Amino acid sequence: MKILGIESSCDETAASIVEGKGDSVKVLSNVVSSQIDLHKKYGGVIPELAAREHVLSVLPVVETALKNAGIKKSDVATELNGIAVATGPGLVSSLMVGIETAKTLSYVHNVPSISINHIEGHVFANFIENKNINFPAIILTVSGGHTMIILMEDFNKFTTLGETRDDAAGEAFDKAAQLMDMGYPGGPAISKLAQRAKAANNIKLPRPMINSGDLDFSFSGLKTALLYELQKDPNYKKRLPEYCLEFQQAIIDVLIKKTITASRGHEAKSILLAGGVSANIELRTQLDQAIKKNIPGTLFVKPELSYTTDNAAMIASAGYFKARENTFTPWNKLDVNPTLSI
Ligand code: KG4
Ligand code: ZN
Repeated sequence: MKILGIESSCDETAASIVEGKGDSVKVLSNVVSSQIDLHKKYGGVIPELAAREHVLSVLPVVETALKNAGIKKSDVATELNGIAVATGPGLVSSLMVGIETAKTLSYVHNVPSISINHIEGHVFANFIENKNINFPAIILTVSGGHTMIILMEDFNKFTTLGETRDDAAGEAFDKAAQLMDMGYPGGPAISKLAQRAKAANNIKLPRPMINSGDLDFSFSGLKTALLYELQKDPNYKKRLPEYCLEFQQAIIDVLIKKTITASRGHEAKSILLAGGVSANIELRTQLDQAIKKNIPGTLFVKPELSYTTDNAAMIASAGYFKARENTFTPWNKLDVNPTLSI
């Protein structure tokens, strides 16, 4: 079963073709056109600019994805079993571009369309070359827009166990990087600079809600705590790697503690990482170590780095698991759902 995926919920225009078999998918092509350079100078994504850029990129990106997968335009109707598109959550005007494209392709080629929740898409990045994920699974979903702990009991059964009450983990990285004048996106910049410090020395930041007894998060106070520390330190510019190390570790400590607690509580057989922040090498390594130490025998799965930040292979992968259950959305019913939750 071959599925075309389209993703345009924020600042990446992406298209991908995957082939699904059993409980796993194989990526035949994966094209991402990133707008990072466009938004960098503003320190964040400008929705109006993002949507205009999606309009320019979407068809060339789809065309390249089809070509790279060896599918001719004339064979789309016979080769593809579904067209999956992210319909939310995300920026309305950006989502609309991907949706309108999927609708049109579905109408013209008579291929059924599939509506995909962007967060579920991140989860299904873990089913690319699936290595026997067993349920129940706990998914730590950490992106620029979301921080959630999700219980997955089957391919279509998700429950949110906890989420952030304010900023998402990725958002916290982005805002902290702005405070330290390190550009956008903040996560990669902070994690890179943190590698230069051996220890955080006397810099100490809080671990918000680490002992709250629930699975919720709060990261906006952490950014404010960092700001106060920077204001107190006339030499902070020379100690940026130490600040980055401590800031990153504060986030990782909270994420790991709650993921282990949730996994214990639900006797998880697998733990999955999802979302842009799952590209963070320290988070990947330390979570792996914590699982081995605290709940040995639990399978730990993380997406390949190229499928951590926004991409369409994850949307196509989620599409395959819906298509095989015949869960399609007619093209004339595809609609934007900017605040879609899981
Ligand atoms: O999943 P994603 O591409 O977009 C959303 O759905 O939000 O996530 C983007 C977020 C950004 O906030 C970015 O700073 C963060 O992921 N990120 C990282 C790393 N790479 C990307 N955060 C920490 N460490 C990284 N290496
Ligand atoms: Zn995302």
